[in-house]
Amino acid sequence: MGTWRLGAFSSPDERARQVAAIKKGIELGINLIDTAEMYSSGRSEEVVREAVKHIRKDVFIATKVSPGNLRRDDVIEACKGSLRRLGTSYVDLYQVHWPNPSIPIRETMSAMEQLVREGLVRYIGISNFNVSETDEARAALPKSEIVSNQVEYSLTNRYVEPEILPYCVREKMTLIAYSPLARGNIPDAAIPKAILQKYKMTPAQAMLNWVTRDEQVVAIPKATNPVHLEENASSVSVRLDGSEYEQIGASLR
Ligand SMILES: NC(=O)c1ccc[n+]([C@@H]2O[C@H](COP(=O)([O-])OP(=O)(O)OC[C@H]3O[C@@H](n4cnc5c(N)ncnc54)[C@H](OP(=O)(O)O)[C@@H]3O)[C@@H](O)[C@H]2O)c1
Repeated sequence: MGTWRLGAFSSPDERARQVAAIKKGIELGINLIDTAEMYSSGRSEEVVREAVKHIRKDVFIATKVSPGNLRRDDVIEACKGSLRRLGTSYVDLYQVHWPNPSIPIRETMSAMEQLVREGLVRYIGISNFNVSETDEARAALPKSEIVSNQVEYSLTNRYVEPEILPYCVREKMTLIAYSPLARGNIPDAAIPKAILQKYKMTPAQAMLNWVTRDEQVVAIPKATNPVHLEENASSVSVRLDGSEYEQIGASLR
């Protein structure tokens, strides 16, 4: 479940709806929640705290350190800030939100490793890194793994296909697909109707099923509408066959 823009609300009712949406997603079986210190200036993390407060151990919380906070002491402070806002003693996955070429990646990664050693972080991830930046980040971490790269990937945005996706598959690194529903701009008409009918899928479900066709890929759609949450939670319960994935992929080439 993505949480970008959660935490921005104009009334207590709207905040309650956002908390309820995350809770409903969890009830439906979605257990990875992605947030960031940057989202709504930390208020997205506070909404997540409210939703998981009695069920922390049942969920996998992924958050991110902003590119301006990649100096050693800033990484440590940023993580502590996220833990405070999330109301938890550990983050499951701590991701570098974007690379920052003006700060040596070695310095950032040494701080990430310290967070793991101290038990504040379970796994280290990156986001928006290309292949050479990923190689550099891995080389800066001789003792730990980078388990994931979070990048934009959907039927309508395929920039990861030439290099980043094959790299993740080969290196067994999870690719976390963000904006997997093209931020709500779902290309309904393009997806082959015969496949939708055969599997009784909506176009959004087909998009999520397609983007996660490789076991190395997980998707983090954001939804606040309960109907959307139900659709998304049940979108990956069947696997299509290879030629059907190819047809869906070709529909937007
Ligand atoms: N690492 C990064 O730099 C980065 C950048 C962007 C995003 N992200 C992460 O990725 C998450 C997801 O990306 P996103 O929020 O950009 O976009 P998205 O998940 O592709 O799309 C979200 C939009 O799709 C709608 N929607 C959800 N399920 C639907 C369904 N079944 N049918 C029709 N519409 C549906 C939502 O509406 P409702 O809310 O009304 O249900 C919302 O407007 C973010 O929330 C964030 O956690 C990371």
